[in-house]
Amino acid sequence: MSEKIVIGMIGFGTVGKKVYEILQELNETSKVLNETSFNVEVKHIAVKDLEKHRIVRPPEGVLVSDADSIVRDSDIQIIVEVMGGTTPTYEFARQALLHSKQFVTANKALIGSSALRLYRIAQLAPSKHKPGIFFEAAVGGGIPIIEILKRSLLGDTVREITGILNGTCNYILTKMEGSDSERPVSYEAALADAQAKGFAEADPTLDVNGDDTAAKLVIMAMLAFEKSYVAEDVQVTGITKVMLEDMVILRDLGRTVRFIAYARKDSTAESLIVEPVAVREHQLFGQTKNENNVIMVNTAYRGTQTYAGKGAGGMATASAVVSDIFQAIRVVRKLDHAPSIPLGMIYPPRALHGDSWGRNDANAYYIRVKCENPEHMDQYLKAIESEKPGKLTLIKQDPTFFAAITESNATRVVMCSITNRLAKLMLDLTPDKLHPYSFVALPIRDDL
Ligand code: HSE
Repeated sequence: MSEKIVIGMIGFGTVGKKVYEILQELNETSKVLNETSFNVEVKHIAVKDLEKHRIVRPPEGVLVSDADSIVRDSDIQIIVEVMGGTTPTYEFARQALLHSKQFVTANKALIGSSALRLYRIAQLAPSKHKPGIFFEAAVGGGIPIIEILKRSLLGDTVREITGILNGTCNYILTKMEGSDSERPVSYEAALADAQAKGFAEADPTLDVNGDDTAAKLVIMAMLAFEKSYVAEDVQVTGITKVMLEDMVILRDLGRTVRFIAYARKDSTAESLIVEPVAVREHQLFGQTKNENNVIMVNTAYRGTQTYAGKGAGGMATASAVVSDIFQAIRVVRKLDHAPSIPLGMIYPPRALHGDSWGRNDANAYYIRVKCENPEHMDQYLKAIESEKPGKLTLIKQDPTFFAAITESNATRVVMCSITNRLAKLMLDLTPDKLHPYSFVALPIRDDL
C-alpha cells in the first residue's frame, strides 16, 4: 500500500508548470512509488486567471483562484510557492506555516527579505513536528548551492563568493556580445528573447536593475557568513547602462561584460556588491553564457570551488523545487526533522563593518561617456578628471563619445564620485532627458 502525499501549489507559471509535469512523470513512472512507497497528489493549484488558455492542463477542479483556501486546506501537507514577489506571498507563507504545512519556495525576494520572520512563525505552528522551510530553487536555478552553503561547507570558513546569479542578465549580455555565428543584438531584443524563453521575472526590471541578484546574494551571504543581511546592504548597479558600443569596444580588447555578484567578509572588510564587470572573454566568467550561472566560493580550507549550470528556466529551477518537495516529504513522513534555521538567519541584520562595499578596493576601470551635444563633452571630461582617477588610457574619442581605461589603482570610492558627478552634470545639462544616464564605469577583472 502506498501513502499519498498531498500538495498545494501557488503559482503556475514557467516553473510551476514544470514542477507539476515532473511530479506527474514521477507518479506515472512509479519512481516515487517504488523507491519510497508514496505517491504525490497535487490537489489544488492557485492561479490568477482561471480562464487563461494553458497548454499544460491539470484535471478539472485542480486549478483554483483562491490561494487562501489552499494554505488552510487540512488535507494539504506541503505548499509549493512558485508565484514570486513578496505581496501577497508573505501572507500565504505565514498561513501555510501557521497551519503546520511544509513550505517549499523558489522565491528569493521572499526568503531574502523575510527568512527570519518565517522561521519564527514556523516555531508557532501548533503541531509537535514543526514545519520546514525549503528554498533550494531560490538561488542558482538548478545549481544546488543552498545545500552546499547550508551543509556541505560546515566547519570551513567561507571568505568570498563571486558569481553570475541572474540568467536573464547573462542571456542579455551574451546576446549583446554576439558570437562567430550570431550577430550582436540590442539590449531590448535580447531582453524580449529572455522573457519569451521564460528566464525573466514577471517584472523584468527586477532582473536588469539587479534586485533579483541582490536578493540571491543576501541569501547566500547569510548562509556563508552566518550573519544576517538585507537588500540595502548590497551596493547594486544594474546592467541597463551597458551599451552595444561598450560590448564592441571591450571585445576588441579581448573582454566582455558579465553581471557579477560579489560578497566578502573578513575582519577588515565586509562587501556585498552587484555590478556589471568587464572580464576576459576567454576565461570562466566570459565563457559562462546564456542563462547559465556560475558561483565561485572561496573557503579557508578548500580554496576556491566552482559550481556552474543552468541558473534560470523552467526545467532546471523546477528540478530544484522537486528536490525540496522530496526533502519536505521526508519531514511529513517523520523520516527527518524540519531543517533548522540557518545560523545567519537567527539574528536581525546589523551594520556592515570595516571597509564596507569595498570602498578602497583598487581596480582598473573602463569609463565611457556618450552625449548628444558635442559642446558638453569637455565638461564631462573635466568632471572625470576633477576626481583624480589617475592616468586614463584613451580607447575611443569622438565629439560625442569617450571611452578610456584607468590605471589599476582606481578605487571604488573614486569611481562612485565620478559617476555621481557625471549624473549630476547630465541632469544639469540635459534636464529634459530621463534616465538612463549615458555613462558607465565598469571594473575590469582579469581573475574571473
Ligand atoms: N529571473 C531569474 C533569472 C530567474 O533570470 O535568473 C531565476 O532566479
